[in-house]
Amino acid sequence: MDRPVSRLCCIGCGRDYPLEEIRYECDACANLLEVVHDLELLKTVRDGPGWRHLFDERLGVRSGIHRSGVWRYHELVLPDLPAAGVVSKPEGNTTLYRAARLEEESGTAEVHIKHEGENPTLSFKDRGMSAGVSFARHLGVGMVACASTGDTSAAMAAYAAQVDGMRGVVVLPKGQISMEQLAQPIASGCLTVALPADFDTCIRLLREVCRRRPLYLLNSVNPVRIEGQKSIAYEIVQQLGWDPPDWIVVPVGNAGNISAIGKGLFDLRALGLIDRVPHLLGAQPEVAAPLARAHREGYKERVRVKAADTVATAIRIGDPVSYDKAVGTVRRSGGAFIAASEQEIMDAKALVDATGVYVCPNSATAVAGFLKARQQGTIGASDKVVIVATAHGCKFSQATIDYHEGRLPGVRPRRANRVIELRVDGAALERLLASDDGSRKDKP
Ligand code: F0G
Repeated sequence: MDRPVSRLCCIGCGRDYPLEEIRYECDACANLLEVVHDLELLKTVRDGPGWRHLFDERLGVRSGIHRSGVWRYHELVLPDLPAAGVVSKPEGNTTLYRAARLEEESGTAEVHIKHEGENPTLSFKDRGMSAGVSFARHLGVGMVACASTGDTSAAMAAYAAQVDGMRGVVVLPKGQISMEQLAQPIASGCLTVALPADFDTCIRLLREVCRRRPLYLLNSVNPVRIEGQKSIAYEIVQQLGWDPPDWIVVPVGNAGNISAIGKGLFDLRALGLIDRVPHLLGAQPEVAAPLARAHREGYKERVRVKAADTVATAIRIGDPVSYDKAVGTVRRSGGAFIAASEQEIMDAKALVDATGVYVCPNSATAVAGFLKARQQGTIGASDKVVIVATAHGCKFSQATIDYHEGRLPGVRPRRANRVIELRVDGAALERLLASDDGSRKDKP
């Protein structure tokens, strides 16, 4: 295509900017920007069935950018970026697990878990970061930066490490991310900074510094990242044979991911790949749930909270940067936001983990939100539901062990599987095996 397909557009006043301009906010009204593709132009390239056919054909490729679960959809992600400019590991192509145990537990027709923890750095952030770092390289940027609750920093560090001459800087809330997450940017050689502050403060500070210094900001305020992120939605519907679910449930922190998934789905509908958009349900921990509160209060005004300690540390965020985008897309989808307690989150995690699909507490917040929405009747018995698990359980070993050992304050481990310590004694092991009835009972 000889003219640019994409531009930046303010979500508030609609003002346009060129895609290649480094900016995260509108000059006129300070709202966030989004990447807008010329959908009319894309419609002239192929019709809906034509696009579906193209993406299905690419499923079998073994080399090149199209084997990535982001870049398979190159024309709908960043059509103006040449294939040679793509930085990919590759990412995506994560499993959509049928969750029979959740179907039984909740009495729901069809439930799947989209396990984004199967990405290269063990979280969904690899998708947006592949787009963000590719674009940073395309722009010739030397230094990329993000504030993070652990997963964005892990992804940015690992993608920046792939590019010669690109330096990464991560700013983290000290003591508030898991050990495994902290190890990732250190291992990838990033400049790793810890502040005695919460995430909301870290990102505010970094955004200010980015205004003064030539740092390319790769938090989800960066609209290019959202374009990579939305490929989760593309994969979900493609894996379901282009028949969208009734609901997609997503854990929400800074609210970039749910905005991205919504944007992706509305683009697919506009281009005729799907005929309806699923309802989006955003789930937050009760102690960090500004959007769930806004939903209860009818979105009358913007809600900010001081986020408190939660097992779901990656979504301990009280003032989500993509608040307006998320509210817009969730309302447009006929969806909702919901909050889950620490007890509900960890019980939901143990339920899913025990099926051999190992998820993190943040992902479990979505599972708990789903179970609650089902109980309340928001989600119906005949619905088809996809829950997005955003990171792998292996990033949160401490929370998992603490739950099973009964060490989480305020949480009673209803599905505990404790380690049993024995003497070095074969007979003792045999007695234990004889008394084991082969199942773990849930305590009431
Ligand atoms: N789940 C996990 C595992 C996350 O790491 C995050 C966000 C979310 C869900 C929420 O996604 O922010 O787009 O609403 N983590 C960010 C980070 C904030 O810095 O890693 P969101």
